[in-house]
Parts: sequence; C-alpha cells; structure tokens
Amino acid sequence: MARRNQQSFVCQNCGAAYNRWQGKCDSCGEWNTLTEESAGGVQAAPIPGRPARKGRVFALEPLTGDTHEAPRLPSGIAELDRVIGGGFVRGSVLLVGGDPGIGKSTLLVQAAALLSGAGHRTVYISGEEAVAQVRLRAERLDLAHMPVELAAETSIEDIIATLSHGKIPRLIIIDSIQTMWTDSIDSAPGTVTQVRGSAQALIRFAKRAGCAVILVGHVTKDGQIAGPRVVEHMVDAVLSFEGDGAHQFRILRAVKNRFGPTDEIGVFEMTGAGLREVANPSELFLSERDLGSPGTAVFAGIEGTRPLLVEIQALAAPTSLGTPRRAVVGWDSSRLAMVLAVLEAHCGVRLSGHDVYLNVAGGLRIQEPAADLAAAAALVSSLANAPLPADAVYFGEVSLSGAVRPVPQAAARLKEAAKLGFARAVVPDAARSDATAEPAMALSTIRSLADLVSDIAAKGKPRGNQPVRFREDG
Ligand code: TYD
Ligand code: MG
Repeated sequence: MARRNQQSFVCQNCGAAYNRWQGKCDSCGEWNTLTEESAGGVQAAPIPGRPARKGRVFALEPLTGDTHEAPRLPSGIAELDRVIGGGFVRGSVLLVGGDPGIGKSTLLVQAAALLSGAGHRTVYISGEEAVAQVRLRAERLDLAHMPVELAAETSIEDIIATLSHGKIPRLIIIDSIQTMWTDSIDSAPGTVTQVRGSAQALIRFAKRAGCAVILVGHVTKDGQIAGPRVVEHMVDAVLSFEGDGAHQFRILRAVKNRFGPTDEIGVFEMTGAGLREVANPSELFLSERDLGSPGTAVFAGIEGTRPLLVEIQALAAPTSLGTPRRAVVGWDSSRLAMVLAVLEAHCGVRLSGHDVYLNVAGGLRIQEPAADLAAAAALVSSLANAPLPADAVYFGEVSLSGAVRPVPQAAARLKEAAKLGFARAVVPDAARSDATAEPAMALSTIRSLADLVSDIAAKGKPRGNQPVRFREDG
C-alpha cells in the first residue's frame, strides 16, 4: 500500500504548522494565512526500512584558538557597507526585505555592478523579471557596460549546478527567494516550505563555496506569499529597506547581523537614475522645514553611530468626535499615548478635547525614546499656538513621573546640531556636562516636562477665542 504523503497546514506568515485547517493562526494571529502543504522533505523522522545511521565522532574545540576577522568584500556603496558592517562576508547569506517597489532590485543591481567593476565575479539571478527587464534597468542606471552575469531562473538545482561550474562567483544575488523552488519539495513555489527549502539549499551552497549570497524577500501584508520572516533565523544578516511612496528617501536598516552592528542605518534617495547615497542625512531631512510655524520641533537623534536631525511635526486640533483621534506616522503610537498622559497628569495640559496628529518629516521612522521631549515640545507648541525657536534642537526621554531623563551620546547630538547651524538645545539636566564640548550651543537644561510646558505656554498667542490656559489645576 502506498504511504500517503503527510499533509499539514502551514501559516504563510509565520510558518507555524497545524494538523487541520483553521481560519486564524494561533501563533501570529493572522487570518486566512494557512495553506495545505506536504510535510515531505522537511520532516526529520526516520524513513521506515532504512537502517538508522551510526553517528560520526567529531572533535570538540576550546573557546580560545586561532581566529581571524571574517574576510569582507566592500560593495563600494558606503551607505550599504556601513549597514552590513564593512562589506559582504564570504560564505554568508544576507536577506534584504522590503515592500514591493521600494528599490531592492535597484540597490542590488547597483551593488553588483560596482563589485563586478572591481574585478569580482558577480552573478544576478532574477526570478521575477526577464533578462531584458534587468538590462533595461541597468541601462537606466547607466551600468549596462558592467560585467555582471545575468540569468532569469527559478530552479534551485539548476542555479546551484550552474554556479558550481567554473570559477565560483564572489557575490550571488537571488531576486527574489519567493520565486525560487526546489525539486526536493513538492509544494508550490512561494509557500513557506519551498521558501525555506530553497533558502536552505542556497545557504549550504554559500558556506561550501565561500561566496556571499544575497536573498531578496518581499514583505507581504496579506500573507498570500511566505514573507521573508520565515527565513530570518536561517540567514546571517537581515536588512530591511524602508521608505514610503510619497518620499524619495529610502532607509536601509540592519535587523539582524551576525558579523556587524544592528543599529546603523543607510540613507538613500531614489532619483531618476537610481539610488543616490545621502552622506549627510540631517541636511536632507531638514531641507523642507517650515520655519516659524507652531507645532514643529527639531529632534537631535542618533541612528547607530551617526547623529541625525529630523523635524517632528504635531497638530492638536479641537475634536468633534466623542473619542478624539490620535494618529502618528514615523513614531511609536504607544509612546505618543504615554507623552500625552504625562502632559495631562503632570503638566496640566488638557488634550482630551483635541485630536492629536504627530508626524516625523521625510518618512523617517524613529525608535529612540530620546524623541519624547521633541514630540512633547511640538505638541505643546501646536496647542499653545507658540512657534518654537527656529535655531533650537530638543532631546530627552520623558519618564512617567514627568521627569526628563538623560539620553546617551548627548555630546554627539550637540555637535551635529552646532554643525548645522543650531544655536541652542533644550536638553535633560544631566547633559550640562556635555556643554563644555560644544561651546557654540546655548543649553537650556530642564528637569521636568512641566518646565518645558510653562516655557512654551508663556510665549503662546491665543488662537481665536481660545486662551492659552495650561496649569488650570494649580
Ligand atoms: P525596484 O528596484 O524594481 O523595486 P523592488 O525590487 O523593491 O520591487 O524599484 C522600483 C521603483 O523604483 C519603481 O517604481 C521605479 C523606481 N525607480 C526610480 O525611480 N529610478 C530608477 O532609476 C529606477 C531603476 C527605479
Ligand atoms: Mg525587484
């Protein structure tokens, strides 16, 4: 009797497997993401009839011993090299994830072209586009003369056979992992099992051949195709390429990196001729500032080792709804809720009758708690109709008690602000000692958020028949 191939239902979003179909994945909470897949090829259960293999004895090593720095292959794109930690590591696999259309293929064609120009054999395998389409893109980028080797292929076995033939390439780009399929698994391409199986085969090849492999993965919101998350744990580094359609800025961020830092970002600008590196992002993010209007504050942030100045915009407008709206773009909405609660509880600022909108200019996403003070300043400035000084920057973390707490790398933040022509900084009290490092900056140190609120409210102009009236409770 033929043994029925065992079937299971696998969530295409997170990879959790179930015995029977269900509407919602218990593991990640997504709906309609379960697809039937055969478990053949991924299960490690012993095959009936085959004798169990006796294990081979291997040598165990001490922790000390000869080590050498992983050999790196710089791409020549400084912003990319910064994020990956100095260059591609030989024998490693890098996953680049991002929304469709964000510019992953563009970035990787540019990197491949530069590397091939430097004399390294570089292969670009496209599973999504025909060779002619990749050529058209290269022409648009003015890189068509570069010796990159191209193919439009999706079979992992064919790809590995081709790549093992002749001189092993230094860099291989697989665009995208979701279009690849391997014979050893009989699920449809794009399913979790196929994506994992294909990635596994490529990872084995990279380690064996000692070449760097880049996998492109589309982030999928509807969970119809397995997202890059299902291979994140297998690869050496995961980069995420972010940005939104409304802005030309693109941010490359390391999410995981076995060979380098994970807090660095690379900033690019999408132009008609491909991605352009942005060496001084602060200048770019502040280039369209709306000077002299209430509700904007400049935040002196740090991304990795690099200071980055951005404008935070806020609008507090009287609401007509029972439950006022809170909308935030580029920042954490729970941090906004916390800042609003602290303003209400400790600073006498009533916001329950106002809709609140917060936006980080330029499409950047900020994760640092140090942005609390700048967000609060922008909010209070909007509410009090009091423009903040155009030459001031803000940073500091706000605690639930209303105190303003110190943040790391204050000196680097002040230095960047001074370099861009800012003359004053509103900072936590503890940053006073850093003032000596930057004599050009006038510091106003504050201990609590209430100090900031009363400073701003004192300069406020009543809007219409609404007087500025904070601290009504005391
Ligand atoms: P692409 O690299 O194909 O995105 P992905 O691989 O992430 O899906 O880039 C898609 C967008 O980039 C497309 O909308 C056109 C735009 N683009 C430019 O603006 N300038 C360029 O030079 C190129 C090649 C693309
Ligand atoms: Mg693409």
